Amino acid sequence: MSTDPYWNHNTHYHPWVLDQVPDHARTALDIGCGDGLLARKLAGRCDAVLGVDTDARVIADAPATPTVHLEHTDFRDLDQTFDVVTAVATLHHVPLRDGLTTLRRLVAPGGVLAVVGLWKMHPLTDFPYYAALPAIRAVDRRHRRVLGGPEMVLRDPRETLAEIRTTAAELLPGAQIRRRLMWRYTLRWQNPGRELASGKRAGEGTARRSSRL
Ligand SMILES: C[S@@+](CC[C@H](N)C(=O)[O-])C[C@H]1O[C@@H](n2cnc3c(N)ncnc32)[C@H](O)[C@@H]1O
Repeated sequence: MSTDPYWNHNTHYHPWVLDQVPDHARTALDIGCGDGLLARKLAGRCDAVLGVDTDARVIADAPATPTVHLEHTDFRDLDQTFDVVTAVATLHHVPLRDGLTTLRRLVAPGGVLAVVGLWKMHPLTDFPYYAALPAIRAVDRRHRRVLGGPEMVLRDPRETLAEIRTTAAELLPGAQIRRRLMWRYTLRWQNPGRELASGKRAGEGTARRSSRL
């Protein structure tokens, strides 16, 4: 049973995100971290976690913990790398190509990018998805007593899933994208990096390069 203070379509995927954290991971970045709920969970798996959000208010209200640092920053301005980078319901807030290019740069060699995203529904190609509505409603009903979360900046997704797949295939070769319930897709990509290929321990050195953690 979850001990989370609330549940919503984003927190629903936190277990999936945590499953993507590689064993070697020491440093984690959560972009669009909101109140830091996922960042605090990542701290159970990593020594140092940075959460960034462009909404100063939601960051200011977040509880502080020793291993989680939350910062009022646009993730595109970061210049460090991390063993795991997570983005839940945030990628669609920036132009897709810009966002994926930045995320690729932020993942350390051997590190993993885990995205839970939203796409713009297309009436023709997404028509079969509506068959999933009863299942989505059933999951919602099961969580109705804990449904909620902090007030956050929202925006409608601009890209269809086909566009997201095409751009990801170009920028993040090997990325696995799956359409999921709750109007979400998941994207997992591992940075193949030179260090893995040469047998060096993945992620080594990335924590020390960080000045913010
Ligand atoms: C829909 S909320 C999701 C928040 C949280 N990840 C969750 O799952 O509840 C999207 C968040 O991304 C933040 N955001 C938007 N653009 C951003 C950017 N360029 N860099 C960092 N955060 C950003 C917004 O302020 C907002 O808090």
